[in-house]
Amino acid sequence: MSDPRPIGVFDSGMGGLTVMRALMARLPNESFVYLGDTARLPYGTKSADTVRRYAIQASKALVARGVKMVVIACNTASVSLPQVAQALSPLPVIGVIAPGARAALAASPDGPIAILGTEGTVKGGTYRTAIRAQGSDVPIVQQACPLFVPLAEEGLVDGPIVDAVIRRYLDPLLATVPRPKALLLGCTHYPVLKAAIAAVAGPEFMLIDSATTAAEAVAELIAAKDLTAGGGEPSLQFLATDAPDRFARVGEIFLGQAIDPGTVELIDLQ
Ligand code: DGL
Repeated sequence: MSDPRPIGVFDSGMGGLTVMRALMARLPNESFVYLGDTARLPYGTKSADTVRRYAIQASKALVARGVKMVVIACNTASVSLPQVAQALSPLPVIGVIAPGARAALAASPDGPIAILGTEGTVKGGTYRTAIRAQGSDVPIVQQACPLFVPLAEEGLVDGPIVDAVIRRYLDPLLATVPRPKALLLGCTHYPVLKAAIAAVAGPEFMLIDSATTAAEAVAELIAAKDLTAGGGEPSLQFLATDAPDRFARVGEIFLGQAIDPGTVELIDLQ
């Protein structure tokens, strides 16, 4: 049995397109509907209650589009995974945190592991909880990197300003004793800064990006639930809650390919 319905992917904005990119590479026969809640970006500075409300609204909008599962491609919103899963039950829902935590542990089982994320992700301790849930007591250090999001959205991914910002966030982590061995990029925007972060961090650090592991987890889930698409022509649809033109322009930085503004539909989640 095959299931041609699209996979719903949701993020606070365009950053989740880094996860979409990994999903499209891993699952080339699948169709996708991507929703960016651009009207209410950023989520990283908002309270957990507000993010939970937004995440449930966005996920329900995807369900209304006939998706067969929902991927919360936003680290900050993934804290609401249990509530979203409950609201959408029995539709499968997956977030990026557990796959990211697994990838970090696989790369550095004895740690220390450094987690970079938004204020919300760091305050909520989402990755710490997920790592502990996997039975590990590995040392963990966390650092909120709020300036990475606007830098990435400006397409500013290298140069002296970027290096100075990275140093400001990484220096305290690099001074930690014992020094972390793995840096987990716990935010959708950070993969586009990966090369610059790696250059500042130095060669002895492993940079972990949860997008690839999340895509693998989605592939396993749809196979296990018999939801894999057949061989038809896959479709790609974008929804944004504000500024579809900006979504297409900035989204290209994250998706790694051009987005035709005509393919981005403006929707209202209220
Ligand atoms: N998508 C968010 C995340 O991965 C980053 C942008 C935001 O703060 O909304 O945490």
